[in-house]
Amino acid sequence: MAATNGGQFKVGTMPAVNPYGRADEELATVAQREERRKRRMKCFAYVAAFAVFQTAIILIFALVVMKVDAPKFRVRSATFDDFQVSTLNTNASFNIRMNANLAIKNKNFGRYKYEDSTIEFFYQDIKVGEAAIPSGKAKFRSTKKFTVPVVLSSASVPGNVLGDEFSRHAWVPLTSRSTLKGKVRLMLIFNKKKSTNMNCIMNLNISSKQLQDLVCQ
Ligand SMILES: *[C@@H]1O[C@H](CO)[C@@H](O)[C@H](O)[C@H]1NC(C)=O
Ligand SMILES: *[C@@H]1O[C@H](CO)[C@@H](O)[C@H](O)[C@H]1NC(C)=O
Repeated sequence: MAATNGGQFKVGTMPAVNPYGRADEELATVAQREERRKRRMKCFAYVAAFAVFQTAIILIFALVVMKVDAPKFRVRSATFDDFQVSTLNTNASFNIRMNANLAIKNKNFGRYKYEDSTIEFFYQDIKVGEAAIPSGKAKFRSTKKFTVPVVLSSASVPGNVLGDEFSRHAWVPLTSRSTLKGKVRLMLIFNKKKSTNMNCIMNLNISSKQLQDLVCQ
């Protein structure tokens, strides 16, 4: 009885109190839902935009920062401690103590650590000098410069060949070659192996006692 009365009371009175209440409530709910949907869409749009942005950043990072270039290794200049040259046509020779200034240019976003190596100097294809290169590091985007002592000797060059060279001009064409093996460190954790070759040509001017016309590949 009470339940039936209650039911009757409800059914009977609700429309009377507010005939449009339900419809208004429904309208409000629909509007709210629409609002929420819009907000969610906006949120998705932000997330998507952020994902695209982040992907772009990662790509740029991968292309620029993680890209590893072979460092450039070259002869920069030289000074001389002793410079003995004989220009006799039939028996020319040289015996020179040179301090070769070398450079390792590391453009990478991480230091380059290289192993022990050697640098060799040639006249034509005859080796006329050699020096040890101690292992070391070239810092993040910088050029490491150091000097190695080299004895240049024409002991293996036939005296008449060199004599012929000197009869034409007062300089000795030389080439220098070397290979460095090492690793570029990226983001302080990854190591990427990278080796670099030196291939330089130069002229040793025996009248000015200077190294000139230095060109490195
Ligand atoms: C050639 O010159 C060197 C020193 O430069 C000398 O020791 C050698 O005896 C010379 N040889 C000849 C065949 O003249
Ligand atoms: C070698 O040095 C001399 C003296 O400085 C200079 O006159 C000459 O031009 C130089 N040789 C070359 C090939 O540049």
